[in-house]
Amino acid sequence: MNDRPIVFDDGDSYEKMMGVWSRSVGGLFIDWLNPAAGLRWADIGCGTGAFSQLVFDRCAPARLDGVDPSNEQLDYARKRFAGKQTAFVQGGAYPLPWPDDSFDLAIMALVIFFVPDPAKGVAEMVRVTRPGGVVAAYAWDVLGEGFPTAALQTEMRAHGIKVVLPPSVEASRLERMRDLWECAGLVDLETRVFPTHRVFESFEQFWDISIMSSSTRAALADVDAATRDDLKAALRARVKIDSGGRVDARAHANAARGRKAH
Ligand SMILES: C[S@@+](CC[C@H](N)C(=O)[O-])C[C@H]1O[C@@H](n2cnc3c(N)ncnc32)[C@H](O)[C@@H]1O
Repeated sequence: MNDRPIVFDDGDSYEKMMGVWSRSVGGLFIDWLNPAAGLRWADIGCGTGAFSQLVFDRCAPARLDGVDPSNEQLDYARKRFAGKQTAFVQGGAYPLPWPDDSFDLAIMALVIFFVPDPAKGVAEMVRVTRPGGVVAAYAWDVLGEGFPTAALQTEMRAHGIKVVLPPSVEASRLERMRDLWECAGLVDLETRVFPTHRVFESFEQFWDISIMSSSTRAALADVDAATRDDLKAALRARVKIDSGGRVDARAHANAARGRKAH
């Protein structure tokens, strides 16, 4: 049985797999936040900057600051935004490396379930946000089959392969997110479910990209070639492949937003 933790140490693979998925929800999340231009954004667990990219493409921020424990992911983000109003610092969700009240928005994109104590993480987001500013997050509904590789995970379990889950997976449930936001004293609370999908040109492409996810890599690291082949065949039989050979994969994320009280 495999007990390897999920690690983020390969920015290129991340971008091809989860970065594309993150942005597919991130666009809907930004529509929902409907932010003005010229704001100061904090991106907690920014990774390669997959979500930060959307902020620059669509929100004309005054500046964006990111924090993430992974130096490999941060290197990717630093190169990506060279010359922009950004700074990317190594660290975790608490304590955050910024003064009180220094941002208009603090967000976590696909991060809250990795934070060992999610309530502490939300409290820190509140601390660094100015009164009236927004604290928001989205996370795959892992326990509600919303993860982009949920079908693969179902087959992994059927093949006796342990699926590695993020340490605070409960925090991605919609009700739990609402509780966290409420307990942090945030007001004008709202939650939302964002369904999304991604079309793969072939089953092979779907497979190759799905096994790049950090959690799947961790789970498959010690699986022998024969079991891997069986798993792939079972997944091929499970997913819908259209007449053109394409796979239209579905996922959904839960999101919460609130304002810091004045
Ligand atoms: C699924 S990635 C999301 C990256 C990016 N926000 C995006 O939307 O693509 C999760 C990120 O959380 C980071 N992370 C893991 N534990 C963390 C913690 N305790 N505090 C902050 N970030 C953490 C990882 O290094 C990784 O970059």
